[in-house]
Amino acid sequence: MTDKQQNAGRSGRDAFTSSLGMLAATLGSAVGLGNIWKFPSMTGSNGGASFLFVYLACTVVVGLPIMISEIMLGRKVKANAITTLRKLSPKGQPWGIVGVSGVVAAFLILCFYTEVAGWVFAYIFKGLSGSVLTTDPKVASAAFASLISDPMQAIGWQWFVIVFVSIIITFGISKGIEKVTMRLMPILFLLLLVICARSLTLPGAEKGLEFLFTPDFSKITGSVILMAMGLAFFKLSIGMGTMMTYGSYFRDSQNIPLTAGRVVLADLVISLLAGIAIFPAVFAYGFDVSAGPSLLFITIPAVFASMPMGQFFAVLFFVLAAVASTGAMLSLFEVPVAYLCEARQMSRKAATMTTALLVMLLGAPAALSSSMTKDVKIFGLTFFDLFDFLSSNLCMPAGGLLICIFTGWVFGKDKFKAELTNHGLIKNEAIIDSLFFLIKYVSPLLVAVVMLNMLKVF
Ligand code: TRP
Repeated sequence: MTDKQQNAGRSGRDAFTSSLGMLAATLGSAVGLGNIWKFPSMTGSNGGASFLFVYLACTVVVGLPIMISEIMLGRKVKANAITTLRKLSPKGQPWGIVGVSGVVAAFLILCFYTEVAGWVFAYIFKGLSGSVLTTDPKVASAAFASLISDPMQAIGWQWFVIVFVSIIITFGISKGIEKVTMRLMPILFLLLLVICARSLTLPGAEKGLEFLFTPDFSKITGSVILMAMGLAFFKLSIGMGTMMTYGSYFRDSQNIPLTAGRVVLADLVISLLAGIAIFPAVFAYGFDVSAGPSLLFITIPAVFASMPMGQFFAVLFFVLAAVASTGAMLSLFEVPVAYLCEARQMSRKAATMTTALLVMLLGAPAALSSSMTKDVKIFGLTFFDLFDFLSSNLCMPAGGLLICIFTGWVFGKDKFKAELTNHGLIKNEAIIDSLFFLIKYVSPLLVAVVMLNMLKVF
């Protein structure tokens, strides 16, 4: 009997069928727009190699333990995030609420993430027609502004992305998410290598590498450390049930700490390669380093338009960004879909359609943040920024903190050890002991500090 049949036989639930599939799907979730604009520009402007060091420390001390715990909890119960936490809660304790916060966060993130992904998809087509390729950053910003401030285009591209991701989701775990991410991840890697080779062979490329890697320890301040921690959360898709949901499709024989370690490492390599693809070219053509959407949609098209065969490389770059965002959106979609299927007894199709419709409805005000709703401010934020703020600064760190407390203080060491050694089959006790120490004492403390800071308590 294959593993898949075993899984299906036991629970009747779809699941990942191969070790590589689990790695591809989990990596697909971690790799996203965060790798392409957040990571490289943050590294460059916050002290290069020294920021990398801080980011790595945050990843090892906080990111990895939470990721491993989430996958483990999901695999133990083999259910969506809400049901998983409800089932593991001691009587009368409301841990299910952490799962609820995760589902809400998934919706909030989807509302703005699908919009940015929509711009990325739009730029593939606009790149093909040449309409956004100009070496003048002013013209490039006008082209970008005309896309985001046109309600029809802004909503249209967002819906296009939502429908595209929904179609993959309806195929399920093994035939949808696993199959697609196993194809996308190698393509992503290849595209990155091609663009890196192009960028590194431009005259003056060394300046970009210097920007990215020269250590400057004087730039490491308290707030930079907090930023690195926030980035680690977003990069690793933790704190909101994504990894729990994916974990629920993991096989019992999978070595969770090893898989999570590989995902973190590969995600880091991809982020670094993205930096190597972008900054040498930016410096070679004398552009300013910018961050966020303007790096992606203004600087990059202008940089690519400056080089020989620029149109080809620009389109390649946006295909790369589209591939990266697809894997991330699949994992975000799966959180509410799994819940609706299992706890609300919906068919997978109905659950996907419900999720898609809700994201379209809730996402519309975010998509219109540069046009029709641009003057609507809640707590001084546009809808787009509000969804980003609520999910990144509230739901995710709070979810992460509570997952640490749950794993360390409620779930407990014995079960933690049993699950992560696959009931004694893997000899990794020393690693498990250190992981447990981190998750029980160190990670929750650090996350609490970050969260209080994000909420501007100090
Ligand atoms: N990690 C993805 C990125 O880097 C984004 C993402 C996907 C995410 N799933 C998530 C972020 C869950 C937070 C939570 O772009």
